[in-house]
Amino acid sequence: MRPSVIAIDGPAGSGKTVVGQRIAEILGYLYLDTGAFYRALTWLALNRGIDPHDGQALAMLARQASIEIERATEPGERGYRVLVDGQDITHELTLPSVSNTVSIVAAHPEVRAEMLPLQRRVVRRGHVVIAGRDIGTVVAPHAELKLYLNAPLPVRVARRIAQLKAIGIEPDPNAVAAEMAERDRIDQSRSVAPLKPAPDAVILDTSTMSVDEEVAFILDLIARKDP
Ligand code: DC
Repeated sequence: MRPSVIAIDGPAGSGKTVVGQRIAEILGYLYLDTGAFYRALTWLALNRGIDPHDGQALAMLARQASIEIERATEPGERGYRVLVDGQDITHELTLPSVSNTVSIVAAHPEVRAEMLPLQRRVVRRGHVVIAGRDIGTVVAPHAELKLYLNAPLPVRVARRIAQLKAIGIEPDPNAVAAEMAERDRIDQSRSVAPLKPAPDAVILDTSTMSVDEEVAFILDLIARKDP
């Protein structure tokens, strides 16, 4: 049978978004990037002046706020829109202030406990490609297909710099490298749901493959499960 839930995990810049969106488009599935939930909460905390180290306060904020992710009507950067209490904040999610704080926010067990039911609700509906850090291990351990995308840090840094340049930002390469290395460290070492491949995940090093090759490889895996 064709996998209904396809989980994609991996560090920042590993290519989850571009590959996940392409696969979802081809299958007619929803693409859900769970990082958007953590980014939305981080954006809200920064706006409300809430300390990103205060897990209890962040969890309370998550309980009070409405964070909704819906399909974009016009193709946007990530293919979906994020609404916080009805306000479209999609374009604020990639602000450096959010990117530099989100791993701290996402490391709190209380915050993850609030986000989990929101993400599982989407998984239950099926027909979804869902990307993040703990999808195969925690959010959707029963996903019929689990992928773990990876690439060495310098490759991921170069990709991030190219993305920033494409939107008119001229970044300091050393600062981008330091920020990504720090996010990797926090994401991999947290006590709850750290970034790691599920035991049954297919691991892909995306530094040696083009996006087309990755998509073809994944479609082949899907076809094998749906002969
Ligand atoms: O994929 P991204 O860069 O938008 O993710 C932002 C942060 O959110 C990332 O540093 C860790 C966190 N995250 C997480 O902890 N669990 C997920 N399932 C997705 C993202």
